[in-house]
Amino acid sequence: MPVKVLAELIMKEKIIEGIYKFSVKAPQIAQTAKAGQFLEIKVSETGEPFLRRPISIYNIYRETGVVEFIFQVKGRGTQLLSNMEEGTKIDIMGPLGYGNFDVKAYKKVAIIGGGIGTYPLYELAKELQGKSDITMYMGFRNKNLVTLEKEFEQVSNKLVITTDDGSYKNKGFAIDFLKEDCKQEKPDIIFACGPLPMLKAVQKLAVEENILCQISLEERMGCGIGACLGCAVKVISGAEPRYGHVCKEGPVFYANEVEI
Ligand SMILES: Cc1cc2nc3c(=O)[nH]c(=O)nc-3n(C[C@H](O)[C@H](O)[C@H](O)COP(=O)(O)OP(=O)(O)OC[C@H]3O[C@@H](n4cnc5c(N)ncnc54)[C@H](O)[C@@H]3O)c2cc1C
Ligand code: FES
Repeated sequence: MPVKVLAELIMKEKIIEGIYKFSVKAPQIAQTAKAGQFLEIKVSETGEPFLRRPISIYNIYRETGVVEFIFQVKGRGTQLLSNMEEGTKIDIMGPLGYGNFDVKAYKKVAIIGGGIGTYPLYELAKELQGKSDITMYMGFRNKNLVTLEKEFEQVSNKLVITTDDGSYKNKGFAIDFLKEDCKQEKPDIIFACGPLPMLKAVQKLAVEENILCQISLEERMGCGIGACLGCAVKVISGAEPRYGHVCKEGPVFYANEVEI
């Protein structure tokens, strides 16, 4: 069950320019949160902007009740959030989302992420560690935007870092490296989170190669609790296509369930 808490910001870290990691003390959220779920965060005390901002859970420390999230400053809301100082009590609702990652003991797992979509995949890999053989394909635009390489290395058996312009490690898109590896041996499941073109390419690969696949959709959101229809997605798994809510039914869906 999601709860609304005032969570103390116990550590704030600027990872690279414009990208921050926040560690907050939120035991009620840490106890029940699952990989792939997100938080709705009030970014100011004045009530302006009115809408909370959705940010995925990056890391959960269940024993100490600490939850971490990482965000990129995009507009006014995330700018205000980034200005908060350690010690601030942040109004957070969570954990939200009912569709979360399936952390069963799959033998061979491929995890693919792009840009800010790489962050929610850390907790997923952490939970699969020791149960599965994990290859992570993490794509960034360029060297300056590569983040958390050491952390991803620690939770995977193999890490493939790609940059679009080749300024660091492998040149190209992460999906191309996943496709190439699928020719040798298919994973039992693919997990993906990132920009829409990447998700579409992953969905296509999974359907064509008949690989089980889950994708996490980071649609724009309003309320975050299924009340505003701000996050509609076409669900095609039933007898008739229908519109579902990413915030309620997702953000994680099986790739063959949704039209993106
Ligand atoms: C389920 C979910 C999980 C998310 N997890 C993370 C996360 O872990 N880390 C992170 O940095 N961001 C994440 N986001 C995106 C984040 O919510 C937005 O970047 C943020 O709400 C922008 O708010 P703002 O007020 O700063 O910008 P706004 O002023 O609202 O918008 C500024 C710019 O950002 C763009 N933008 C706004 N929302 C999104 C979005 N959802 N996706 C892409 N572009 C957007 C707008 O089009 C605009 O160009 C997530 C979004 C969702 C729905
Ligand atoms: S964000 Fe309001 S219904 Fe999903």
